[in-house]
Amino acid sequence: MNILILGSGGREHALAWAVKQNPKTDRLIVAPGNVGIAMLAECADIDILDGAAVVTFCEENAIDFVIIGPEAPLAAGVADATRAAGLLTFGPSAAAARLEASKAFTKAICDACAAPTAAYARFTEAEPARAYIRAQGAPIVVKADGLAAGKGVIVAMTEGEALAAIDDMFGGEFGAAGAEVVIEEFMAGEEASFFILTDGTNALPIGTAQDHKRVGDGDTGPNTGGMGAYSPAPVLTAEIQQQAMDQIVLPTIREMARRGTPYQGVLYAGLMIEDGRARLVEYNCRFGDPECQVLMMRLGAQALDLMLATAEGRLNEVQVNWADDHALTVVMATQGYPGAYAKGSQIRGLEELPEDSRRMVFHAGTAQRDGRIIATGGRVLNVTARGTTLREARDATYAMVDRIDWPGGFCRRDIGWRALGD
Ligand code: AMP
Ligand code: GLY
Repeated sequence: MNILILGSGGREHALAWAVKQNPKTDRLIVAPGNVGIAMLAECADIDILDGAAVVTFCEENAIDFVIIGPEAPLAAGVADATRAAGLLTFGPSAAAARLEASKAFTKAICDACAAPTAAYARFTEAEPARAYIRAQGAPIVVKADGLAAGKGVIVAMTEGEALAAIDDMFGGEFGAAGAEVVIEEFMAGEEASFFILTDGTNALPIGTAQDHKRVGDGDTGPNTGGMGAYSPAPVLTAEIQQQAMDQIVLPTIREMARRGTPYQGVLYAGLMIEDGRARLVEYNCRFGDPECQVLMMRLGAQALDLMLATAEGRLNEVQVNWADDHALTVVMATQGYPGAYAKGSQIRGLEELPEDSRRMVFHAGTAQRDGRIIATGGRVLNVTARGTTLREARDATYAMVDRIDWPGGFCRRDIGWRALGD
């Protein structure tokens, strides 16, 4: 079949890599794609936020299956447009993607189905928000309601920080995303990500992972989009996964269906685990980046079969064939990230790295200039390996990292520390 993947990051490189391994794949096109993706698939320059343009492209290229990677086209209704045109599509409707696009909406869903999550209140004006913060005290969490590229959440350790966040949000710092603010109870514990495919009715867990959001070793420094991940995440034990399915994920899927907006695609549940119990931090309506890289490294070719079963509404007929393995990915970023950074530094040594079903360098922010690979983004490469133990996966990953010659880049050296205990 002919498959179109929308997106251009390390996540989409990993999706393309897995899909390409499946013999069902004839032609694979990624839009817009990137330099790494171009080594294994065709890339097409289309506006992926424009549903009509995506539909036209699919019709012209006889596309049989569309996989939508990032949240922006989902929130913009691209899955609605492709499905309305009769195209088999992996990814939720704009109405269902509100589980990521609106924090207040997700809280209302949790209320309706009694899913465990942080206590909260919603505000559209600054003064009552300030009064609430003073009454609750710190630590407390202030969130812009809408999509703010991961920057709309302030975990305030003091009342002063929380009040300053209110001033910023109602002062327009986050644009329309900050027109409504959710203020939440601070949840202590360990965070992990749980990924579930759902066709609207059936649900199939496809793995757990742990991200490393802080830029520096030992989880220090500012937040980033994610500096590395590994799967599985041992903190999400079988018991806690079951509790999360029973109390959070399945009730959410039923509530979305009951409202007439069934959720189809991957549901990414960010969970906080404390005292052997999970509570919901947030939902995302897409694969995590870089968590997708470790999930795809573990699932390989079957990822396509699972996504097809999701889109065709027959997840009850499939299962995940687990290998007893572990995967780990290290994000290499441009010096300065997540602050200001220079573009254009040269990366050497990538061509000499062995790449196979156990080892891959996924590209997130690279370009080719005069035959050289240069860095064009903050998060640039996702060096990823699989092993029979997490330690083996970690060692294989850093062995590759050490062969990449990129003076303009850096990475964390401690990815996996929570699970490895060193
Ligand atoms: P979100 O975009 O809602 O996932 O928030 C971003 C990050 O802020 C999360 O991954 C958590 O690390 C942290 N966070 C969000 N909400 C809470 C909360 N209620 N308690 C503690 N940490 C939180
Ligand atoms: N790695 C975090 C995310 O994709 O949201």
